[in-house]
Amino acid sequence: MAKLPESFLSELKFRNPIEEVIGGYAPVKRMGRYLKCRCPFHDETDASFTIYLNTQSYFCFGCRAAGDVINFVKEIENIDYMSAVKLLAERAKLEMPERDEKYEKAERERKKILEINKISARFFHDSLFAPGGVKALEYLLNRGLSLRTIKRFGLGWSPPEWDSLSKLLIGKGCKEDELVTAAVSVRNRKGSGVFDIFRSRVMFPIINIRNEVIGFGGRLLEGEGPKYLNSPDSPAFKKSRNLFAINFAKSAKEKNFILAEGYMDVIALHQAGFSNSVASLGTALTKEQINLISVYAKEVILSYDSDNAGQAASKRAIALFDKSPVRARVLTMRGAKDPDEFIRKFSAEKYALAIERSAAATDFLLDRIRGGYNLDKPDEKVLYLREAEKVLAQLSDPAEQDIYSGILAEEVSVDKALILSQVRGEKTENAAYPPARTKTSSPKENRAPSKIEKAEETVIAFIYKNNTDLDAHISEAYFINEINRRVFQVLSERVSRGESCDLAALEDILSREEKRRLVKIINDELYFSTSKKTFADCAAALKKEKSKKTDSELSGMSPEDLGAYISRLGKKKV
Ligand code: UTP
Ligand code: MN
Repeated sequence: MAKLPESFLSELKFRNPIEEVIGGYAPVKRMGRYLKCRCPFHDETDASFTIYLNTQSYFCFGCRAAGDVINFVKEIENIDYMSAVKLLAERAKLEMPERDEKYEKAERERKKILEINKISARFFHDSLFAPGGVKALEYLLNRGLSLRTIKRFGLGWSPPEWDSLSKLLIGKGCKEDELVTAAVSVRNRKGSGVFDIFRSRVMFPIINIRNEVIGFGGRLLEGEGPKYLNSPDSPAFKKSRNLFAINFAKSAKEKNFILAEGYMDVIALHQAGFSNSVASLGTALTKEQINLISVYAKEVILSYDSDNAGQAASKRAIALFDKSPVRARVLTMRGAKDPDEFIRKFSAEKYALAIERSAAATDFLLDRIRGGYNLDKPDEKVLYLREAEKVLAQLSDPAEQDIYSGILAEEVSVDKALILSQVRGEKTENAAYPPARTKTSSPKENRAPSKIEKAEETVIAFIYKNNTDLDAHISEAYFINEINRRVFQVLSERVSRGESCDLAALEDILSREEKRRLVKIINDELYFSTSKKTFADCAAALKKEKSKKTDSELSGMSPEDLGAYISRLGKKKV
């Protein structure tokens, strides 16, 4: 995104009142300080979509869409941020500001990389069908891929020569530096030239939602080296923000996504008709990737390898998804190590059946624990119960905690209320938030912020509205809630640099979830008129709270929060 001058953005928003712009898409009704309408982003009969005049922002209590006027236009028109700005500028007859040179340069660099990637992808693909690629082509066909699939995914072969691709690109007028930035070539040790990163590998182009080739994965057929090599990050490629096959999965008709580990798994799945499959790119799943999934799917089916590593990865992914609006299920495979093998050995129909039989995340976690104990023995039953309670304590949805406590109670013949009190304990602070406001909010949001979270939110709201932290020396280390911590960190950094905290300026910086949280906080009546004194009190409360965590609070924290908490404490004994 271009860095537009703040003065321009504020003028743009001033001349495009959010209620007028949204009013152009849906009939809005005034309700005192708010406006309401039927959410233009999801099907509904009651008006969950709220427009706040004083903060010029919107929040839907049904689908949790949130943002400012630019965001709204971006989402409803399905266009990128810059195009939304342009559209609003035209609407208000505002002239776009002079272009930002640094941004222009970065954009040129990105375009160049994409051009290089495109030529490279074409070269790899052609090489697969050239005489030198016969072995690789045979390999892919032997692995059960059809020619159609190979072409659809643009699979390729990188020849064994040191610099066949580099030479080709230089012949087309590219500079050596550009090849290095694009991460298709590296400089040789003498510095006298460049050579290809990918040699003698089956090539998997990685394509983003805009159908741009942003990088590659390459699989070794034989010989030395890592089995898979992935393009390093470049100005056009951030591994942690992309998913393999998202270019296809984004338009799949299913409402859920299948998340697998490997390139070959995803390709086999697509060939078998599961075009809603994606994989993370040789890294552990990231929050950004979950954000990306949440744009397209409400549910994800984890279909990782059946080995221990795959199971551990599932557990980790479940914890991440629990904090997101995406529900997770886990597919268990027997008799095959990964989805690719499963489909070849059994069939697509069997895989579809396995999807149907996939377990809700919590059932999966409990099943795993139960497997380790003999429930006929009272002592093991107790151990099982304790471990199971820990799992339930991590859940962010109180209704889910309630239901599973009931199931557990029957299973081990223990009073449900007893289990529930263990599960709830004082352990709610880490759970994903935001507070419930209306009937339409999803169950995940049912938890009201704890006292200390309210203090955090007061601090955030104050900084946002007053553009200052009054030099209160608050550190993000005082924040317990992960999302609040990050929102605070961003705002306080901006304030200290004298930059605006307006939503428009945060577009690229906050994740969806973080933006949503901020919109909620700034529109919460609780924080409408926070005095300097209240702000200072809340800041002091946070500081104090930091140094007093009880064991039960600690045991109720997610591993991530706990890790962050402990590392913040440094060497101090917990
Ligand atoms: P796997 O080793 O499970 O490979 O790695 P796979 O996908 O089943 O591949 P085949 O079937 O043997 O061809 C899963 C994913 O982990 C990443 C790759 O993204 C791979 O698809 N990976 C694996 C690497 O990045 N580097 C490696 O050396 C190995
Ligand atoms: Mn495999």
